[in-house]
Amino acid sequence: MREKLLEIENQAVVELTGVGSEVDLQQIKARFLGRKGEITTIMKGMGQLTAEERPLVGALANQVKERLELLFADRLEALRAELQERQLKSERIDFTLPGRSQRSGHKHPITLVTEEIVAIFAAMGFGVAEGPEVEKDFYNFEALNIPKDHPARDMQDTFYIDDDIVLRTHTSPVQVRTMLGQQPPVRVIAPGTVYRRDSDLTHSPMFHQVEGFLVDRQVTFGDLKGVLTTFINEFFGKELGVRFRPSFFPFTEPSAEVDIQCVICGGGGCRVCKQSGWLEILGSGMIDPEVFKSVGYDPEVYSGFAFGMGIERIAMLRYGVNDLRLFYENDLRFLRQF
Ligand code: PHE
Repeated sequence: MREKLLEIENQAVVELTGVGSEVDLQQIKARFLGRKGEITTIMKGMGQLTAEERPLVGALANQVKERLELLFADRLEALRAELQERQLKSERIDFTLPGRSQRSGHKHPITLVTEEIVAIFAAMGFGVAEGPEVEKDFYNFEALNIPKDHPARDMQDTFYIDDDIVLRTHTSPVQVRTMLGQQPPVRVIAPGTVYRRDSDLTHSPMFHQVEGFLVDRQVTFGDLKGVLTTFINEFFGKELGVRFRPSFFPFTEPSAEVDIQCVICGGGGCRVCKQSGWLEILGSGMIDPEVFKSVGYDPEVYSGFAFGMGIERIAMLRYGVNDLRLFYENDLRFLRQF
């Protein structure tokens, strides 16, 4: 029996060293030390031994049992350590990888350009005004010297809400509202959304304008030229050629459209400026005496100038964008560039 015990111990040691997982280890342990295990079986069989043999074998059996229990405990600890080591290796975090930073949102390019335009005029002493986008015929047309049967109404394809109410086709009604509300001198810049029945590569049914106007005694066309030239140089950041070209608007007389030297080709001629070297950026003129009469200003005492520009167009020139629709699609790949 003594040999049998030692044999069992050896066998257990051999199996223990080869074991690879905790589950296997527990199985082996049960086989040797469990309630029906080999050592237990031997201990149960000790009754057949002689009185002298029994205590000796019993002591040896206990020793073997204790030694094996220690060995199993050690092996279990070693297995767990190995497992943890393996996990640490496979789940390792590479701290040297570059981080993924949170992107923050920002203002839309149209908003950026609007704010920049407003800031330049604010620095020249202009105050900011706004008006409604759903507008009365009176403010959008009538008071601006465009009566109902006036051919100039065809110039702007209007969205009518009803006979008397329209979606404003320009920001010029803010001129009327402001002048009705306050006496000269006035210096106002009025950004806003406007609507026309028009849609293609360079026209959107909804777009944005900035209106500006100044009324005082003895305001001249020279003042208009000075203010607009200053604005253009500030906004485009360089001394561009500027051209005032005679034009017509019912609410200004004389009127001029303002062209700048092409920002793409520098004036040599390209596709954007249609080989002319010039780009039209705004409409302007001296406020028509008829407008002053509509708002109760005395045209004998006061004179003033007004101008209106399309913000999308200016933003396109500023950023070299060739399709107006990009501003409205909200494609982040586009918007993130500003
Ligand atoms: N309201 C005109 C337009 O929309 C622009 C303009 C404004 C022209 C002020 C002259 C004076 O085209």
